[in-house]
Amino acid sequence: MSDVVRLERRGAIALITVNNPPVNALGVAVRQGLLEAFRAAEADAEVRAVALVCEGNTFIAGADIKEFGKPPQAPSLPDVIAFIEGASKPSVAVIHGTALGGGLEVALGCHYRIARGDAKVGLPEVKLGLLPGAGGTQRLPRLAGVAKALDMIVSGQPIGAAEAVEHHIVDELFEGDLVEAGLAYAHRMVEEGRAPRRTGEQTRGLEGADNEALIAARHAEVAKRMRGLFSPLRCIAAVEAATRLPLAEGLRRERELFAECLQSPQRAALVHSFFAERQASKIADLPADAKPREIRSAAVIGGGTMGVGIALCFANAGLPVKLLEIDDAALGRALQRARDTYGASVKRGSLSEEAMEKRLKLVEGVTDYATLAEVDLVIEAVFEDMGVKQQVFEKLDAVCRPGAILASNTSSLDVNQIAAFTRRPEDVVGLHFFSPANVMRLLEVVRGEKTSHEVLATAMAIGKKLKKVSVVVGVCDGFVGNRMIFQYGREAEFLLEEGATPQQVDGALRNFGMAMGPFAMRDLSGLDIGQAIRKRQRATLPPDRDFPTVSDRLCEAGMLGQKTGAGYYRYEPGNRTPLENPDLAPMLEAASREKGVERRTLDEAYIIERTIYALVNEGAKILEEGIAQRSSDIDVIYLNGYGFPAFRGGPMFYADSVGLDTVLAKVKELHARCGDWWKPAPLLERLAAEGRRFSDWQPGQ
Ligand code: 3HC
Ligand code: NAI
Repeated sequence: MSDVVRLERRGAIALITVNNPPVNALGVAVRQGLLEAFRAAEADAEVRAVALVCEGNTFIAGADIKEFGKPPQAPSLPDVIAFIEGASKPSVAVIHGTALGGGLEVALGCHYRIARGDAKVGLPEVKLGLLPGAGGTQRLPRLAGVAKALDMIVSGQPIGAAEAVEHHIVDELFEGDLVEAGLAYAHRMVEEGRAPRRTGEQTRGLEGADNEALIAARHAEVAKRMRGLFSPLRCIAAVEAATRLPLAEGLRRERELFAECLQSPQRAALVHSFFAERQASKIADLPADAKPREIRSAAVIGGGTMGVGIALCFANAGLPVKLLEIDDAALGRALQRARDTYGASVKRGSLSEEAMEKRLKLVEGVTDYATLAEVDLVIEAVFEDMGVKQQVFEKLDAVCRPGAILASNTSSLDVNQIAAFTRRPEDVVGLHFFSPANVMRLLEVVRGEKTSHEVLATAMAIGKKLKKVSVVVGVCDGFVGNRMIFQYGREAEFLLEEGATPQQVDGALRNFGMAMGPFAMRDLSGLDIGQAIRKRQRATLPPDRDFPTVSDRLCEAGMLGQKTGAGYYRYEPGNRTPLENPDLAPMLEAASREKGVERRTLDEAYIIERTIYALVNEGAKILEEGIAQRSSDIDVIYLNGYGFPAFRGGPMFYADSVGLDTVLAKVKELHARCGDWWKPAPLLERLAAEGRRFSDWQPGQ
């Protein structure tokens, strides 16, 4: 018997235990072990029922994702499950933690299922560009009905154990010890003389609803809402097969569709995104003994857009947080904004009134720095002005206890300079949240020259506590995300001078998969922000460097975006739908004329190359400078903070999949035609020449 799957006889019960840390994924050894154990139980005349349990934190969390794209190894998961389902002795899956993907499919292959009250079950394959490929699309609808199965399979969202009972996915809940609960249930099966109840033979879930209409409606919804995604429509096709075909044929159809997804470039990109996110939490040079400090309370300085959002992150995580403003009036506004933000969630039904009040109690408004003496962490979110930051950090240094961490939410200023305003630069770190801070998952953890290992480890731990995806970045103007977005935004604007409209550029990038086009995005955040950045850049770059001018023209005309009712688009009061701004066309023409550019029609491919390769070229510079630890960290930043489509894996992965030689050829062409903004990054040139990818490059190579 393999060491990842154990079989023990407990009287008449065969107890099969999976032990494959960290998540009991179904690698080849587990598949083999399960098959052997179920076969042995079947062959043992003394065994009358089987209980399947898992060690560690969770039931089987799915297929081993690392095996995707590699040659398949027998036994296949569908074969293992077919054996489990076909066995003559009743079996029960004992679920704790998360039964996901292939894990839930194994449980569905068992004849009965019990789950601990806090367990979750789901089929998240769609998030990896796949569909459940081991019978999930055929067996789940037979139990839960087509509507629920479609919900779970197309969204990939897991559901809680109690809900799983409601939908006949799980038979009953238990509390306490897994093995005891499993053995007790198995004994009951024996005492009651229960026969195997094979999910594949059930029909209840397929009856009594207009399945054709449910499938058609879901099809229409997916075509609209999940545009460009390969696997969701195939998920639906597989469920449809369950409604029309006998089990064996349905399973065959599922397998074909699964294989199509497995081959798709989207699957590779989404699997990359999955591992990239987990990789980002690892810091190469952090010694193992760098223990995070305990954070029991926090404070936020400045209750503006960001400060309030950050304070809410702490309240959401159940941590008390002080919110400091300059005076009572400003504090009143900040606390009201906190209440309004929660109020909107209550109105939407995503938060209860009771939970809102409980969280608001955790946010204490203050105006006196002396009240911060005992907090463990302070995050400054005042105006983006070095003078103001200096005042704040000097005060914090004076009042905060030794060992307290002093963080800044600056989006572009020099964290080393900020650290130097204190006598404890080792305790200073950047924590760059994204707007709205209580919603966006990304957190750039800015590591200053002197930030200590312990403080860095604590910053990562806080990110986790706040349920953020944290990525370590180095100090430079704009860090990783914004430094790259400057390039992208500028090139988008140059396209306007060449002949495009904001609608065309935004449309092309949305078709590429971006959540939002760059101009709609600028209108949302306010055009004045970019103007300030351009001013700063102009001061440091050669005087002959070309800058686009449309945005400045809009600013001069007082069109700053949504907040003024017009920017690149026009907005009706109270409505965020972008409409054509009639004042823009003459500005575009004037901008082109002044540059001596003849306006022409631009195709989508050119729009994509011009903007996305600007990200890639800057990303390569960032990588070589060591501002990001690895190319996948840049991808994580773009996927979680900038609406880059997950099915393309992030800008660096996208470049790798296009081929760095192809990307470089285009960058060189743009360099020759558009000037020095497009100077190829040396790392891009080197890797392209060596036929390599960003993802296999390590610092120092
Ligand atoms: N295969 C291989 N490794 C996996 C894995 C999987 N299915 N799931 C998680 N891991 C690894 C992670 O990469 C990580 O490794 P690391 O420590 O080396 O970085 C480690 O397990 C722990 O993972 P998390 O950090 O994500 O741990 P959490 O406790 O936060 O979350 C989890 C646990 C909810 C199980 C989460 O890991 C998860 O969602 N995993 C993916 C589940 C999934 O997508 N399953 C479906 C797979 S596809 C499938 O089953 C196809 C089938 O239909 C044929
Ligand atoms: P904001 O202008 O909305 O809020 C700043 C708040 O700080 C104001 O309420 C002001 O009263 C308060 N304040 C000013 N001086 C203070 C002091 N000495 N003590 C206490 N409070 C003081 O600004 P916003 O947008 O919230 O930005 C704050 C910081 O976050 C800036 O550094 C900005 O660069 C950064 N940031 C902003 C993002 C955004 O999208 N707005 C995104 C990420 C970071």
